Amino acid sequence: MKIYVYGTGCGAGDLADEALPPERIEAFVEREGGGSFLDRPVISLRQLAGQDFDLLIVASREAERVEQDCLQLGLDPEKLLFVKNHMRLVDRNRSYDTARAVLGDAYVERLIGSERLIRAPLWTEKERIAGPGSDNDYVRLKSLEALCRRLEGVPGAAAELGVYRGGFARWINLLLPERKLFLFDSFEGFDAAESSGCGAGFVQAHRNTAAELVQGVLPYPEQALLRPGLFPHTTQGLEGERFALVSLDADLEESTLAGLRFFVPRMSKGGYVLLHDYDNPKLPGVKRALERFEAEQGRLASVPLCDVNGSLVLAV
Ligand SMILES: C[S@@+](CC[C@H](N)C(=O)[O-])C[C@H]1O[C@@H](n2cnc3c(N)ncnc32)[C@H](O)[C@@H]1O
Repeated sequence: MKIYVYGTGCGAGDLADEALPPERIEAFVEREGGGSFLDRPVISLRQLAGQDFDLLIVASREAERVEQDCLQLGLDPEKLLFVKNHMRLVDRNRSYDTARAVLGDAYVERLIGSERLIRAPLWTEKERIAGPGSDNDYVRLKSLEALCRRLEGVPGAAAELGVYRGGFARWINLLLPERKLFLFDSFEGFDAAESSGCGAGFVQAHRNTAAELVQGVLPYPEQALLRPGLFPHTTQGLEGERFALVSLDADLEESTLAGLRFFVPRMSKGGYVLLHDYDNPKLPGVKRALERFEAEQGRLASVPLCDVNGSLVLAV
């Protein structure tokens, strides 16, 4: 069977680690081809369209866009298998342009506002943030929006530990344009020792980033303070800083624990820590890190979210 995999990010890495070894994959596919991933070639979707194949597994968060591209190139929909964002909530209306022309802007704004459950965050100026990875987890983004609304009058900066390509950081930056945003990441993937037990695909996929790339996706880059390197060494000089909103998304136990130890005592009253992957069975170290932290410091007030990877909101 000739199998291709669309994507060279975490989804494709996980797929290769868990279910489909790279030897069984003819090639990985991206919009623009070139280079290799897990020692397999990366070809373009256009190149794939000219070939005979049995299955294209779409392991990208951009399921909707990839599907459109595939259909435009005449790929057989029966040969597509979506393994990421395949059950997303979507607005049935692809565009409101005609509605605006016929019914007027005010009516359409009310219409969109009344269906808040299935739209991207209302505070966002969508055109400023359009692009891959911007809306891959609806509940996570809407919860972030709601938390940011509660921060009025709460002093302190925003921060994220575990930034990767800035997919979540840019929403924080957009929703809190007046606040400094500290971004902590190696921008080269995980610490080798800490990730030694993880799958090769998971590790390699997270290397695919760079500080400049992250800077480039932020709507208010002037607010960002990138701290490249291994956390918690990169917190030097920030001991006196206060935070209103922190996203902890380091995936692994020791780094998550280091994040809790650094940020929780520095949170302003009324602030929030969003602990990503708390209830993610693939990343059990996150829950263990919180258990260890609570054993040291006592139980924290928290609210679980029903987002894709089981985030926990710590209200500190
Ligand atoms: C899952 S990704 C973050 C995803 C991002 N928050 C998002 O939602 O798009 C995890 C990131 O944590 C970073 N990371 C983990 N431990 C770290 C540490 N001790 N120091 C610096 N970066 C770390 C990795 O480099 C990786 O980019």
